[in-house]
Amino acid sequence: MNAPHPPGPIPADQADLRASLIASRKRFLSPSLATASIYPDDPLLLVRGEGQYVFDEAGKRYLDCTAQNLCISIGFCHPVTMAMAGEQMHRLPHTTTLFHSEHPIRYAEELVARMPAGTDWVVHLVNSGAEAIDLAYMMARVHTGCFEMVALRNAYHGLQFGAAGSTSFNGNRFTTASVQGFVHAIHPDQYKGVFGAGVTPYLDELKRTISASTSGRIAGMIIEPIQGSGGVVPMPPGYMQGAFEIVRAAGGLCISDEVQTAFGRLGSHYWGFEAHGVMPDIIVLGKGIGNGFPIAAVVCRRDIAESFARAKFFNTYACNPMASAAARSVLKVVDDEGLQAHAQRCGDHLLAGLNRLKEKHALIGDVRGQGLMLGIEVVRDRTTREPAVEEGALVQNRLRASGFIMVKGSPSRNTFRINPPMCITLNDCDALLDAFDRALAAG
Ligand SMILES: Cc1ncc(COP(=O)(O)O)c(C=O)c1O
Repeated sequence: MNAPHPPGPIPADQADLRASLIASRKRFLSPSLATASIYPDDPLLLVRGEGQYVFDEAGKRYLDCTAQNLCISIGFCHPVTMAMAGEQMHRLPHTTTLFHSEHPIRYAEELVARMPAGTDWVVHLVNSGAEAIDLAYMMARVHTGCFEMVALRNAYHGLQFGAAGSTSFNGNRFTTASVQGFVHAIHPDQYKGVFGAGVTPYLDELKRTISASTSGRIAGMIIEPIQGSGGVVPMPPGYMQGAFEIVRAAGGLCISDEVQTAFGRLGSHYWGFEAHGVMPDIIVLGKGIGNGFPIAAVVCRRDIAESFARAKFFNTYACNPMASAAARSVLKVVDDEGLQAHAQRCGDHLLAGLNRLKEKHALIGDVRGQGLMLGIEVVRDRTTREPAVEEGALVQNRLRASGFIMVKGSPSRNTFRINPPMCITLNDCDALLDAFDRALAAG
């Protein structure tokens, strides 16, 4: 590993660069892009990444607990990703689906080998999570001949076209109509769900949603095994199983959105749905699949894909060989470096430490999640569970000052999310717990 640049005063030319980039981003990027920032008052300019760390223009090192929206699964600039994708970039950066090329084909083969046995799985590659989600909806609709689909409240499945219709965040919805055909059932939030803890009332509500808001025949339902952007809300044991039965009885397909939960990040299982003893019909992958390269995938049963293949469907970058090479590196490194077991170890260590912090700091209302997908909800009052948004922002800024980047993601902006690259070390975990403790203690 290269030694980090020493932190210190920012040289004038870099300070100028930072100021100029902040101004130009504001001036030239669309406001729809430019205003998105986790530190709106004092943006963070990142210039380099290595393993689990990123560095700003002054050389200050941060542990990236966001993994850049979970896209960096095995580590920034992992040598295997660099070698495999780099070699392909120098030799032949792109081939369209109209030609055969090694990496996309081998990737599909290797991905299928990691799916549960006994199903004839096939893979369709695309560029982004929302594109994969939309493709999954199209496949479910064509295969079933039904249109209506069910998603959960507090779900995030992307913001383009159909994906946007299924995402259930007030702040992400426009006053103009979004794509029709989605109904939302109440999510089984065990910390602050409207029906309290338990599964049966939420499953009953799902049945009522289908019977009241659809024709009774549906194309399918999509579920995140852990709602990530919704604030790390895990599906409780029994919910996915019960929901899959209800959906199948209504003629629908079951879609697991594994955009955040895949590739061993949860520790106990390689795929999020496996922890629930269910077998989806369609699985959607994105984010960390390419360790920073834009690629996403739909994995589904062959018969579903065959229904969909009756009309021609084409997307130019579907089988980009560089991105596929990067995706192959993720599968290889997760296996070779034992990152799934490592995620379990680090996740358990963090969970235990966070629960100790919860005993010490009243601001922490709940600690949840598993493996390296953890959430810490901060509240003003443990009984009313009123979101501690401003207090959380102070903690977030103190963490940044100590070298830890963490988002406070969830619709109510009061759940810290810990989703670092899976190469984080136990020492990093201890340093993070220590910094969190100090940031909370500062009042
Ligand atoms: C669970 C889940 N599904 C789908 C998406 C959409 O992915 P993308 O942003 O690549 O379109 C996201 C993005 O945050 C996500 O978290």
